[in-house]
Amino acid sequence: MATDQFASALALAREASRVEVFTGAGMSAESGLDTFRDAQTGLWTKVDPVAFASVDSWARDPEPMWAWYLWRGTVCRRAEPNPGHRAIADWSLLADVHVGVTTQNIDNLHERGGMDDVVHLHGSLFDYRCTICSRPWKGEVEFPDEPVARMAPPECPLCGNLVRPGVVWFGEQLPQDEWGRAEARMAAADLVVVVGTSGVVHPAAGLPLVAKHFGAKILEISPEETELSRIADVSWRTTAAQGLTQLVMGLTLDA
Ligand code: APR
Repeated sequence: MATDQFASALALAREASRVEVFTGAGMSAESGLDTFRDAQTGLWTKVDPVAFASVDSWARDPEPMWAWYLWRGTVCRRAEPNPGHRAIADWSLLADVHVGVTTQNIDNLHERGGMDDVVHLHGSLFDYRCTICSRPWKGEVEFPDEPVARMAPPECPLCGNLVRPGVVWFGEQLPQDEWGRAEARMAAADLVVVVGTSGVVHPAAGLPLVAKHFGAKILEISPEETELSRIADVSWRTTAAQGLTQLVMGLTLDA
């Protein structure tokens, strides 16, 4: 079964010349970073990260959220890109194919795994801006060595309001420039590889359907069935690191 799925996946990859890899939290799972909807571990088991990542939580009490995002920054800095991140970068170096990444993730593992020009639909753990005037904040961040329950966010030097994480919270607009770039890439792609996303959070999860509408093939790499499995031409039950490594190895053997 898995070998048939691999063969079908490789056949799609061989035909593709414009590939967009669309990733979610499962892409970084083999780097040790928690996904959102798998069981949370550590300090945050009692906190629902989905409820926690909201404007209301920030307005109500910013210090626990600031502590959570900085701790996630610490964990991300300690993590390494996994073989899946590196396989995507290797793919992008092959002849006659253009490979881009559009991610829902706020970690920087695609960049550290060798990809540049990554589209971050939901922002980044390492960008910060003023809550009110939105001015980017480039100050020195003290990442905690251990998880802490509360940390005071810095104040914006321009207007004095609190600095917040440069990420998209539930109910917030996605950055319009990043959204535009993602749509254009999906419209131009002839293959979208969906990796590590449950496909339940919109509008991001609607992007593979945009690509399909413009004629792209959809390859999903996921250990479980997801909301996007039904639109996939091939849905390969494997993990990001195993699947992407095997796929790019197969393409390299062709080269
Ligand atoms: N390889 C590939 N996929 C994996 C792996 C792995 N090793 N481990 C888990 N997965 C899959 C899970 O089966 C699940 O389908 O990754 C998916 C992770 O889904 P979510 O936790 O829902 O993460 P994601 O889809 O990225 O969430 C989307 O929701 O919370 C918001 O803004 C947040 O960007 C996030 C968005």
